[in-house]
Amino acid sequence: MSEATHVGSGKVRELYALDDDRLLLVASDRISTFDVVLPTEIPDKGRVLTGLSAFWFARTTGVVPNHLLSLRDDARSTECRRLEMLPIECVVRGYLAGSGWKDYLATGEVCGHHLAEGLAESERLPQPIFTPATKAQTGHDENIDRAAAAALVGEERLAEVEATALSLYELASDHARSRGIILADTKLEFGIDDQGRLVLGDEAFTPDSSRFWPADAYRPGSTPPSFDKQFVRDYCEALGWDKSHPGPELPDDVVDGTRARYVEAFERLTEIPFDDYLAEPTVVLA
Ligand SMILES: Nc1ncnc2c1ncn2[C@@H]1O[C@H](COP(=O)(O)OP(=O)(O)OP(=O)(O)O)[C@@H](O)[C@H]1O
Ligand SMILES: [Mg+2]
Repeated sequence: MSEATHVGSGKVRELYALDDDRLLLVASDRISTFDVVLPTEIPDKGRVLTGLSAFWFARTTGVVPNHLLSLRDDARSTECRRLEMLPIECVVRGYLAGSGWKDYLATGEVCGHHLAEGLAESERLPQPIFTPATKAQTGHDENIDRAAAAALVGEERLAEVEATALSLYELASDHARSRGIILADTKLEFGIDDQGRLVLGDEAFTPDSSRFWPADAYRPGSTPPSFDKQFVRDYCEALGWDKSHPGPELPDDVVDGTRARYVEAFERLTEIPFDDYLAEPTVVLA
C-alpha cells in the first residue's frame, strides 16, 4: 500500500494514514478471546465487522456524525476521518452481564449506578445505563464512575457523550430486537473532529464490540450463549488453557462454526446476503 503509511496495529485492525485528515482502517481476520489474539484466523471476520459497522454508520447519522468516508472493494477497509479519540470507552448496558455483573455482585453498583437488589445474571435493567471504562494500553479495560470519566474528558463533553451513546444504543437495540437479537451491551468510541465536534469512530455494533444474544435462547439467571465467540471460548476453556499468551490453535470445525456465526449475525442484522456485500460493499450503505 504505497499511498499510505502504517501508523498502528490494534488487536484486530491495522491503521494507515492516507494524509493528514484521513485514515485507512483495515479489519483483519484476527480473533481475540479473553483479550489474547489467537494464532488462527477466522476467514472473512474482518469483512463482517467492516460491513456491519458501515451498516450502522449509515443508519445513525441522525443521532451523531461518524468517521466513515468510504468503503473499499476488498470489503474490509474503511477510509475514515482522522479524529482525536476520547480516552474513554463508552459502554452502554441494557442487561447485566460481563464486568457489569461482576461489579454488581461485588458492590451492588456498576460505574456508580446503584442498582436494585436481587437482580439475576443477564437480567434486563430497568433502563439502559452508561458505564464508561478506561482504555487500557495493555490488559483489561477498567470500569470507572462519572467523576473519573469527567476528569478525563470534561463534564460537558461527558454529558454529550452519555446522551449520544444512550440514543445510539436505543436505536440499535430496537433494530436488533426486531431481528431476533438482544443487544445486551455495547462499546462505542468517539472522537473530536477539527471543528471540535463529537464524532462516532472505530467500529459500531459488531459482535466484537457488543454482546449479541439470540432472543429465543435468552433466560435471565444464566449466561446466554453469545452469538459469535462462544464456540471459541468453549473450545479454549475445555482445553484448560490458562488464558495467557499464546492462545491455542483452533481446529477447522471451530473456525467454520465461528465464521458461520459471524456471517449469521451480519445477515440477520442487515437483511443483506453476505455474498452480496462481498460483491458490492456499498450495499450496506443504502
Ligand atoms: N477515526 C479514527 N481516528 C483515529 N483513531 C481511530 C479512529 N477510529 C478508530 N481509531 C482507533 O483505531 C484503533 C482500532 O484498532 P483495534 O480495534 O484493532 O484496536 P483494539 O484492539 O480495540 O485496541 P488497541 O488499539 O488498544 O489494541 C483503536 O485504537 C481506535 O481507538
Ligand atoms: Mg477495537
